[in-house]
Amino acid sequence: MNMHNKKILVIGGSSGIGKAVAEMAYSMGNHVTLTSRQLPKAIATAKSIGNTVTGLQLDINDETQVEIFFNAIEGFDHIYIAAGSTKIGALTDGLLHQNLQAFHTRLIGSLSVVRAAIHRISSGGSFVFTGGISTDRPIPGAWVSGLGTAAAEQLARVLVMEYPYIRFNAVSPGYTDTPMWDDLLGENRNTILAEVAQKLPVKKIASPQEVASAVLFLMSNASVNGEVLHVDGGGRLV
Ligand SMILES: NC(=O)c1ccc[n+]([C@@H]2O[C@H](COP(=O)([O-])OP(=O)(O)OC[C@H]3O[C@@H](n4cnc5c(N)ncnc54)[C@H](OP(=O)(O)O)[C@@H]3O)[C@@H](O)[C@H]2O)c1
Repeated sequence: MNMHNKKILVIGGSSGIGKAVAEMAYSMGNHVTLTSRQLPKAIATAKSIGNTVTGLQLDINDETQVEIFFNAIEGFDHIYIAAGSTKIGALTDGLLHQNLQAFHTRLIGSLSVVRAAIHRISSGGSFVFTGGISTDRPIPGAWVSGLGTAAAEQLARVLVMEYPYIRFNAVSPGYTDTPMWDDLLGENRNTILAEVAQKLPVKKIASPQEVASAVLFLMSNASVNGEVLHVDGGGRLV
């Protein structure tokens, strides 16, 4: 991969896949900025990766904050949006607009970032969004997530037609071993993920580093555009 000396922003770079992208991009010799919704967490994660990594605060659910963020910062070559979460629950639970928050983050949050950042991306640069296996293999109770991952993947296609010279792609992770599962699965986390792994053709769930290398590939290849790259161990087929 020809990926060094680039300016890379990882939105949601304080944990899991985003953190792995920040680490890998830094190790390849790029200038990395990462964000968290909490400034101390962003700064601590950045420092843990390397002295020249910058940690900033950003919540992409706040459109005004997103605009102020990009107005105050220099441009980037590539932006990866990892920000997102998985919501489990019945359609009839709670209030619809609250349940749709995770969808809002993936669609409106990502669009807010593109709107605010598009004129600060260098020609030949790119955005990478995060979809997920629940687009193709909906998971019971995770209907919000399925809607959100599908929206993120479709963004990579529709935006290609809007902005020449900039590329738009999405990574679509299958089950990946990240802190996201800690709260969702609690003490059964490792048992459930081990059971999931046995159902996959590769007999393992993905590591955040395996997803990260796909993100960096999408950034690095100047002819890959409008693509959704699945990193799911063949999970869509079983
Ligand atoms: N792990 C999987 O199996 C899997 C599978 C398919 C898709 N995905 C998707 O991949 C992405 C990364 O997942 P992960 O497993 O690495 O999760 P994670 O470890 O929980 O990390 C999520 C990251 O997103 C950030 N974030 C969340 N909401 C945000 C918001 N509104 N604005 C800005 N940042 C926000 C978090 O930052 P702070 O909490 O520090 O603010 C954190 O850095 C998510 O979109 C997830 O849905 C994951």
